[in-house]
Amino acid sequence: MREVESVKADIARDLREEQTFRPTAILLVERDGAWLVDPTRAGGLTLLDPILPQILESFVGRPRTIDAYAAYCAVARTDPGDILPTNVLEECAAYGTTRGRFALQIVGHRALLSFGAATEQACLSAGAVSNVQRSEQSGHWDLTATARRKPVLCRTLIKALNPAQVPAPEMSIDDFVSRQEVLLELGCLHPNPQDAAAGLHLSRHPACPFFGMSRGTPIGRHYLNQFIAESRDGIRGRTLEIGGLPLNRQRYRLAQAAPFVTVDLNENSGADVVGDVHDRSLFQPGSFDAILAFNVLEHCPDPRRVVDNVHAWLKPDGLFLCMVPNAQRVHGAPRDYWRPLPDGVASLVAAFQQIEIRAFGNLATTIASLRGLAAEEIGAELFTWHDERYPVATCVRARKTAQAPSGIAPGP
Ligand SMILES: C[S@@+](CC[C@H](N)C(=O)[O-])C[C@H]1O[C@@H](n2cnc3c(N)ncnc32)[C@H](O)[C@@H]1O
Repeated sequence: MREVESVKADIARDLREEQTFRPTAILLVERDGAWLVDPTRAGGLTLLDPILPQILESFVGRPRTIDAYAAYCAVARTDPGDILPTNVLEECAAYGTTRGRFALQIVGHRALLSFGAATEQACLSAGAVSNVQRSEQSGHWDLTATARRKPVLCRTLIKALNPAQVPAPEMSIDDFVSRQEVLLELGCLHPNPQDAAAGLHLSRHPACPFFGMSRGTPIGRHYLNQFIAESRDGIRGRTLEIGGLPLNRQRYRLAQAAPFVTVDLNENSGADVVGDVHDRSLFQPGSFDAILAFNVLEHCPDPRRVVDNVHAWLKPDGLFLCMVPNAQRVHGAPRDYWRPLPDGVASLVAAFQQIEIRAFGNLATTIASLRGLAAEEIGAELFTWHDERYPVATCVRARKTAQAPSGIAPGP
């Protein structure tokens, strides 16, 4: 058997020489340093050791540790100088004086600088990566070329807010790698999965900790889109989406779902109604033709009560569409209680009729989902079969009986 130390040395060598990495993080840069935003946790912020953002930046455009280290060394202990274009600097100075905060997004080898209360709010709410990164309204400066030239963006931004900030220290490759490991632990630096030769499929770090969002379409979202496409024609009339946003009517192309009402526990979500769907009094009995709940029941401490409420809020013959993840990392929204399997979902909707349970996924897509890979990068072939032993997500389509008097809760 090989000595533990020699195995460790091999791993360290791989980290330096063989593997490639992809930085992805949202940082809120303030006067005293940078906060790392965790989009899987509303308001989840971690104050970083001041040197970490700069190490992260060194990986922008430099996937190998050795190149990132060289770039770091080239700028350590120096004054960053005016690396930002004058107009960006001016906007930084003006905005920094009033708000004292910038959002710097490092998204797969790109660096975007954003200003504005809306951006900050989006960063602080769950789902920040998709909201911020892809929003066309949230104007940002694309500073990728600057970060690739000199990885001192964060330092420059902190300096714009607080000129007393000190330059970054010089460090050995070992110190650099140990901080790189912290970034891997924090989930803002990801090993590239194609480096399978280095044993990465057994790695303790996902390719993307945000379900694959930083790489493309999450695997679970791919299946949800398929389920919605199959169900779209039946979603008509007064529709409620639990844990949804008004723009989902367009996003899911639900032209016949009108009016479209959304409800969410989170008062910052932008939903029409703020409330807890465990509370039956939120809506009148028999008031919706369709109710949607995608990726919500796993966050409900009493999903049975929620489904009973859905039953009561539906009109006779009303449609309930629901999806729960099975192979998905734990994430608070605000908490994460369960991964209901197809039999569990069937038992929740027993009071309905025309029940269709769908288990989407197979062993390959389950692994890909847990690894945080995106649908686009694993190829269409893997989506052509489902294996009910390895579901990525369970979906249900069910109707309230046409005769049931509305408002009467189903039996136990
Ligand atoms: C994981 S997100 C899913 C969002 C969206 N439906 C999707 O598929 O991306 C879960 C959402 O459900 C909301 N939520 C969780 N528990 C809730 C409850 N008891 N009542 C209302 N909304 C709830 C959360 O605030 C969050 O916005």
